[in-house]
Amino acid sequence: MSETVQDKVDFLVIANRLPVDRKVDDDGSVSWKSSPGGLVTALEPVMQRKGGAWIGWHGAPDEVVKPFHHDGYDIHPVPLSAQEVEEYYEGFSNATLWPLYHDCIVEPVFHREWWDAFQKVNKRFAEQAAEQAAEGATVWVQDYQLNLVPKYLREMRPDLRIGFFLHIPFPPIELYSRLPWREELVEGLLGADLIGFQTPGAAANFQRLARHRPGVTAARGRAHTPDGRTVVIRDFPISIDSRGFHELATSEKVKAEAAKLREDLGHPGTIIFGVDRLDYTKGLRQRIRAVGELFKEGKLDPHEVVFLQLATPSRERVEEYKILRDDINLLVGQINSKVGSIANRALVYRNESVPREVLAAMYQMADLMLVTPVRDGMNLVAKEYIACRSNDDSALVLSEFAGAARELKQAYMVNPYDIDGMKATIMKALTDSPKIKARKMRSMRRQVFDKTIDVWADNFLTELEGQ
Ligand code: ADP
Ligand code: G6P
Repeated sequence: MSETVQDKVDFLVIANRLPVDRKVDDDGSVSWKSSPGGLVTALEPVMQRKGGAWIGWHGAPDEVVKPFHHDGYDIHPVPLSAQEVEEYYEGFSNATLWPLYHDCIVEPVFHREWWDAFQKVNKRFAEQAAEQAAEGATVWVQDYQLNLVPKYLREMRPDLRIGFFLHIPFPPIELYSRLPWREELVEGLLGADLIGFQTPGAAANFQRLARHRPGVTAARGRAHTPDGRTVVIRDFPISIDSRGFHELATSEKVKAEAAKLREDLGHPGTIIFGVDRLDYTKGLRQRIRAVGELFKEGKLDPHEVVFLQLATPSRERVEEYKILRDDINLLVGQINSKVGSIANRALVYRNESVPREVLAAMYQMADLMLVTPVRDGMNLVAKEYIACRSNDDSALVLSEFAGAARELKQAYMVNPYDIDGMKATIMKALTDSPKIKARKMRSMRRQVFDKTIDVWADNFLTELEGQ
């Protein structure tokens, strides 16, 4: 990290999260840690390749942090007060928009003070970008937390090319219409030149909404606004640095780590693996229940099989996340108290985040991967598993409600709400012939190595800059 940053840049990313999070320990010492979630995993390699600047929040309330240079690009931290963290981040972003955009799996909460804070903070991000962008620069706004930034930024700097990418799903109009501020949010996004979504369905949902705005016509992926602009609306399924993950997972160090982890788990014949943020969209309740029942019914033998589940703590002060954490702890305890033994735990559950090398080792050793969200924009974990696991005798069980299901068609598909169906599919994935599994893995590998994060970024930026 160095303190020298450029005055103005031609390429800017704005996201609520920065790639690194500032942590202040009890003794006052400061450290930086990798930030959680798929947005950072996807964008880090793009920024390392392209350079420019990343504007975002550094994860600590009430702290002003100076800009710095990191990994080949500049970082401009945007400060948030403790009250803004509560109202803009935990409130409007993660208790209003997050559940609303994920099909109202839990009830979205609407508060007028949260909406006020959301507008105020979005203006601050836009002002920071307007400050840093060179004449005619390309600015790429990321995700639902910054839904209003395209409009604000266009008002401040009409010379810029503005792209927006939504990393999460976009709901059907029937659900979206509950939002008291639906008009303002649609108008916020229409400030962009290009709006990208994970799937064609999400893009179609937005286009339908845009058409309802007075003076806007929208059809075939283009919206025409009353001020005479054309906004392109399209899907750009996001991906990962597949080769980077593969190289890491097949390095000698990580292979040795995988062997050690297998040893630590008691050398089971089969390892089933799951890794997610601890989020109610990830289908953890259903997944753990399904595997627990397979153990209880004797279909899985705890002397032979271990289910390892990691769950990174996430948004811990938001009510629904607290409820989820308690529910999962209880569920895991109930299962482990009935199956396995002191020496052989059937279910190994860790509520923690692990370094990238350890994660790669876990993917490398996992015979069966469970990715069962009840709704997910894409789900990068599914792609990471395919990139990391080099053994053909492997299987991916994937929810049909993840964006990734449109691309990884050879996965063992499940409806996570159908516990019996999920149990049957897990057993099939474990018992199918090595030939069938190898064919599936090879086909998914082709997909993941062809459609990498570089392809995603280049497709988006070519479309944006070509307009
Ligand atoms: P989301 O963005 O909703 O969290 P994704 O599956 O798209 O879901 O991305 C999650 C990212 O976070 C992946 O890159 C994954 O490797 C990482 N991740 C999730 N859980 C952990 C964990 N316990 N430790 C380390 N990395 C994790
Ligand atoms: C998802 C969202 C990202 C978010 C990430 C982690 O990937 O799409 O915008 O950064 O989850 O969540 P957090 O609230 O910790 O930033």
